[in-house]
Amino acid sequence: MCGIIGYNGHKNSIKVLINGLKALEYRGYDSAGIAYYNGKRMEIIKTSGRIFNLEKKLKPNIQSNIGIGHTRWATHGKPNDINSHPHRMGKFTIVHNGIIENYEELKKGLIKKGYKFKTETDSEVIAALLDFIYSTEKDVLKTISLLEEKLIGAYALGILCDDEPNILYATRKDSPLIVGIGNKENFIASDVPAILKYTNQYIIIEDNEIVKIDDKVTVYKNLNETEKKVLTFEGNLEVAEKNGFDHFMLKEIHEEPSVIKNTTEPFLADGLESLIQNMPNFSQYKRIEIVGCGSAYHAGLVGKAIIEKYTNTPVAVYIASEFRYQKLFTDKETLVIFISQSGETADTLASLRKIKSQNIDSLAIVNVVGSSLAREAKNTIYIKAGPEISVATTKAYLAQVAVLSLIALNLGYKQKIISENKANDIIKSFIKLPTYIEDIIDKNYKQIAKTLYKKNICFYIGRGIDYALSMEGSLKLKEISYIVSMCYPAGELKHGTISLIDKGTNVISVITDKTIADKTLSNIKEVKSRGAVVTLVTTEEIANDFADVNHKVIIPKTNDFINPMIAAIPLQLISYETAKLRGCDIDKPKNLAKSVTVE
Ligand code: G6P
Repeated sequence: MCGIIGYNGHKNSIKVLINGLKALEYRGYDSAGIAYYNGKRMEIIKTSGRIFNLEKKLKPNIQSNIGIGHTRWATHGKPNDINSHPHRMGKFTIVHNGIIENYEELKKGLIKKGYKFKTETDSEVIAALLDFIYSTEKDVLKTISLLEEKLIGAYALGILCDDEPNILYATRKDSPLIVGIGNKENFIASDVPAILKYTNQYIIIEDNEIVKIDDKVTVYKNLNETEKKVLTFEGNLEVAEKNGFDHFMLKEIHEEPSVIKNTTEPFLADGLESLIQNMPNFSQYKRIEIVGCGSAYHAGLVGKAIIEKYTNTPVAVYIASEFRYQKLFTDKETLVIFISQSGETADTLASLRKIKSQNIDSLAIVNVVGSSLAREAKNTIYIKAGPEISVATTKAYLAQVAVLSLIALNLGYKQKIISENKANDIIKSFIKLPTYIEDIIDKNYKQIAKTLYKKNICFYIGRGIDYALSMEGSLKLKEISYIVSMCYPAGELKHGTISLIDKGTNVISVITDKTIADKTLSNIKEVKSRGAVVTLVTTEEIANDFADVNHKVIIPKTNDFINPMIAAIPLQLISYETAKLRGCDIDKPKNLAKSVTVE
């Protein structure tokens, strides 16, 4: 989704803004622009398309020490030059991330006051409103605080005013914003990777705080100065570079063994003792609900299958955009788990706020440290995936599943369903998991991709936990290769979808659960006999019983706690290799955004 960068310091702002925008590319965007003060006036350069198009429009030798930049992911108005940010009206130039819900009403009022709008965006209204308020208030800080009373919706804003051209202002509500603290230079940004080239020190801005950056950073709450904690980003720029891999997605898949090790280590280092001590105790809850979007939702489905199999706790999993508008059946004995890589997904955050308003307990499983979900949930468990740049998640999804699997283990042990011996065995298998993952990454998936890449349709089938895994496999394929990919519980195929299976139709099936393997194997026979080309991802013991498929990916038979994670890797790599053969922009699939901060 949209990305914001802003700079005020001793360097040439153009270079900093462009570098910042490049670091934000992974969020997904369709146009880009910058505004800067050149010592005489504010200039705006913007364009649809990629950042290199913007660079082509920039004259060499521009001198500027202050500016704002933006990558736009179109919501209101086409992704063309004019709708790109920054927007300017009167004395104000702004960049905006979010959606202003009451913009039409505000726009009508401002048109009556003589403002002429050039774009179809909701964001241009913000510049006009700032200019209008300022015309009577004559004070930028006060103007921004009054603006916030009028806007309904979500926003992070970078703001420049002609009357104070050497000051950078910013504010936010329900859209992420950080301030980077450098040496005689400071930054605003949507997230940390945008500033990492220059500093790893940052401040998290809370809703309705206003930032003023002149030669220092001042943060205001209700127009009073407020103290902010400066945080240090643990990690380095290397994580945001490809390091010789063709794509971030491939690099991130190769990071999965270490991500799993880092994520699970705090719960495993001293065996069962670490799990008991470091995993919050959830045994007082009678029910668990899990809420997330996209792959996070799919991780929740895998978690449900493991938790329900090994505990007495029922689990319901919800898509956040549905959950937030649904009737709640939660009570004080319910724990609601929110899963999110970014910790900023608008629907997930709104769902958390909904249950918090009813005093229901929450746990966030989040990757980005200090993100809104992490700060607002009652408890947080961080996955340790590090920055994930590829829009299609891989390592964060896997780490989310790992945490849910450990929750299941802890709960099953506390409920005495899992014995101490069994728990110790499972812990040992978790320690071996990175090695299993390394081995499965090293297999060759190109042959399977060659079967898939020329067709425009593909089906995934599985049962139980394997259905949950297949859903993620199917999503991964459609996200990055643009193949129409559909996933069904294997037994449901014959209730309609089997009519689409013809000679040569690709079907991918996952079978890790031995208890219902036979059922899915007969569904495979059904599609095979109608000419389907079948790829089967399964464990060695099941594979030995069943030879009649076109491709087999064999994973080791371990246990229900770690098998799902091993099985997820081939699905990720099959999608990757297929998208590569189709020549797709794998890390930045069209229309998709990494962090979906609008509803
Ligand atoms: C977007 C991303 C997905 C991700 C989903 C939820 O759609 O492209 O990869 O699973 O958002 O994001 P979150 O940050 O909440 O995990």
